[in-house]
Amino acid sequence: MNTVIVGTQWGDEGKGKIIDILSGEADYVVRFQGGNNAGHTVVVGNKEYIFHLIPSGILHKGKICCIGNGAVIDPKVLFQEISDLKSAGINASSRLKISSLAHVILPYHRILDQLRETKRKYKIGTTGRGIGPCYADKITRCGIRMIDLLNPVVFGEKLSDNLKEKNEIFKKVYKHPGFNLASIYKEYLNYGKIFSGYICNVSSLLNKAIELKKDILFEGAQGTFLDIDFGTYPFVTSSSSTVGGACIGTGVSAVKINKVVGVAKAYTTRVGEGPFPTEFSERFNRFIREKGNEFGSTTGRPRRCGWFDCLMVKEAVVLNGISELAVMKLDVLDGLKKIKICVAYKYKGKEFKEFPQDLEVLQSANPVYKEIPGWPNYVIRPKVYQDLHPNARAYLDRIQGIVGAKINIVSVGSAREDTIF
Ligand code: IMP
Repeated sequence: MNTVIVGTQWGDEGKGKIIDILSGEADYVVRFQGGNNAGHTVVVGNKEYIFHLIPSGILHKGKICCIGNGAVIDPKVLFQEISDLKSAGINASSRLKISSLAHVILPYHRILDQLRETKRKYKIGTTGRGIGPCYADKITRCGIRMIDLLNPVVFGEKLSDNLKEKNEIFKKVYKHPGFNLASIYKEYLNYGKIFSGYICNVSSLLNKAIELKKDILFEGAQGTFLDIDFGTYPFVTSSSSTVGGACIGTGVSAVKINKVVGVAKAYTTRVGEGPFPTEFSERFNRFIREKGNEFGSTTGRPRRCGWFDCLMVKEAVVLNGISELAVMKLDVLDGLKKIKICVAYKYKGKEFKEFPQDLEVLQSANPVYKEIPGWPNYVIRPKVYQDLHPNARAYLDRIQGIVGAKINIVSVGSAREDTIF
């Protein structure tokens, strides 16, 4: 069974926990897009792990973890992540495979990301990790791939070509001194040596595994509305975080995907700029942020919080072909007297039941809410579905009915045990 996990909102839905749970059943776990802008948090016992690049499946013994061609890799971060795992007693060396075709994030990508952001009138709120500029180089065909780090001649030529152009831009446009060829060359060639044992043809590896009837879990990062095409452009990331990204980003055919599991938070959050129709008022935002510990696991930035938006999740269900939904952090809503669900938007007297593609509409739309009773003073730690407060079950039923996918998993805490199937 080959399963893709995707976020149905603006990322941070709790995919790390679901991936960790489903990894138990998989043979291979694969990251297919994004880079270290992601932060997947997994809690095992009293230990918390945050993964930015390595698939969180690495915590499960014997699982092969791959970083596909669709991802972008900052070797410094990857090296640190491997070292941190080693310190925690987890040896990734024989189980981590890196696509030779994945693009490399270089120091100039990171700095350009940050400089561009300071110059923008309408800021995107990027993580500043160099993700956008690295993908831009990939598309303009001047990117450097992991395989290039293994070839001193090719790497030297590509880097030199890049720096010739980029240093001019850095100096003239950004008043930045630019980058030294020799020092980047030396440092990154060394990364090539470090990772030479990991770099391989990941698509061939996965397709052979599929022939042998192995199970693959595709670990989506970010979320549907950060997707470069279907997200709230330009307030998006630079990769395909919807299901198609799993094929493009690994070289596994679409006909080999058996199931798509969507992950949604029981409310909505967003980090960075961009429209957010159901965003709470500042005071309630602060309350839920503290209660749900809504701070970015990559940048530590406070997340913006809002009510559950059915239009968004319904759109994500359709775009990704989601058949099963995991609803996360339901416990954060414990204790509220009333809960709102957004079922439509109103804009200039017109009602929208579908997620609008026009950012103007999204930016100014008024959400239409259904208000349902909450479950105040509820203290039971539910272990099975029947333990959930009847109003919590009614909330889930209502969401399920509107978004058109079955809710199969409900999470009521960060630990593996706080999960209802
Ligand atoms: P970038 O991916 O760093 O270019 O950032 C672009 C936008 O995507 C910003 O609004 C980020 O906050 C957001 N973003 C990127 N990765 C994540 C993530 O893993 N979770 C939530 N938001 C993200």
